[in-house]
Amino acid sequence: MESGEVDDRPQAGPRTVERRKSPPAAHTTTSLARQSGSDLRGVLESDGVIVIDTEPFRLSQDEIELVERHWSDGRSKNSSYNPNTGIVDGVIAGRRSADELKRLMARYADWATAVIGEYFPSYGDSLELGRTSLRRRSVQDDPPLSRRKDDRSLHLDAFTSQPVAGRRILRVFCNIDPSGGEREWAIADGGFEDFAQRFRGRARRLLPGEAQVLKGLQLTKCLRTDYDQIMLGMHDAAKRDRDYQRTAPRRYVAFPQGSTWLAFTDQTPHAAVSGQCALEQTFYVPVDSLADPASSPLRILERLWGAALV
Ligand code: SIN
Ligand code: FE
Repeated sequence: MESGEVDDRPQAGPRTVERRKSPPAAHTTTSLARQSGSDLRGVLESDGVIVIDTEPFRLSQDEIELVERHWSDGRSKNSSYNPNTGIVDGVIAGRRSADELKRLMARYADWATAVIGEYFPSYGDSLELGRTSLRRRSVQDDPPLSRRKDDRSLHLDAFTSQPVAGRRILRVFCNIDPSGGEREWAIADGGFEDFAQRFRGRARRLLPGEAQVLKGLQLTKCLRTDYDQIMLGMHDAAKRDRDYQRTAPRRYVAFPQGSTWLAFTDQTPHAAVSGQCALEQTFYVPVDSLADPASSPLRILERLWGAALV
């Protein structure tokens, strides 16, 4: 498949990336070059997914071998790391390799933090660092663990155990496939409000006492809010809706090996289509730090529900 390309004309502002040869429609996403002194938040917040025109996150030869080794062992697939606690999950490997994977993810967490600081200084200190993941499952070839976890279906991200209470989910992805393959996404047309109009009738607010029970059972790390409950309901409804999955108008975007892209994955309905090795860093962004808080999923849902949801 032909890849999306980063346009390398002189950097005058947000630019468009187009695939040269592609199936059905126009396949575009915005590419951002850093412009000192300018505030790029509005572009990211309105587009939802953008490619960053930056030096790639580079792996050393040892890191490439590490990724390849654990990729091919058939046991440890996706791994995640909590930069706040230093704990790694999903690594079935010897002590040495586990430590090396942790170091790689820690290095990526630092790198992604620097990228956000460089391109979006206005989000500043309000950003909260979330988990880092190394995604080694082949999107096409490795079966998902359940339909709910199947990121090949169009969805918005919503977390079952980690309530966000309206904060935005901002993720920094980097395609590090050692074999040089692209990662490809489908992005549904229409954006958040269309998605919410379609699925809000299949989502609900919390029942009285429900958040306390979930937390008491340690199913959530803190109290789930109405916002989190509604986002989860819409996430599940979309993944279950075969008609939506089959017919929703969408564009396809290919991220070549070495490329970096940022996504507000709570805003832009997306699905992984292909690819097999990526790093990802999650950040939480308070609504008040956005250039346009009214465009946030929280404020849109509150408008549609006519009620405060956190
Ligand atoms: C996602 O669905 O949030 C990520 C898809 C991917 O791993 O590329
Ligand atoms: Fe997702």
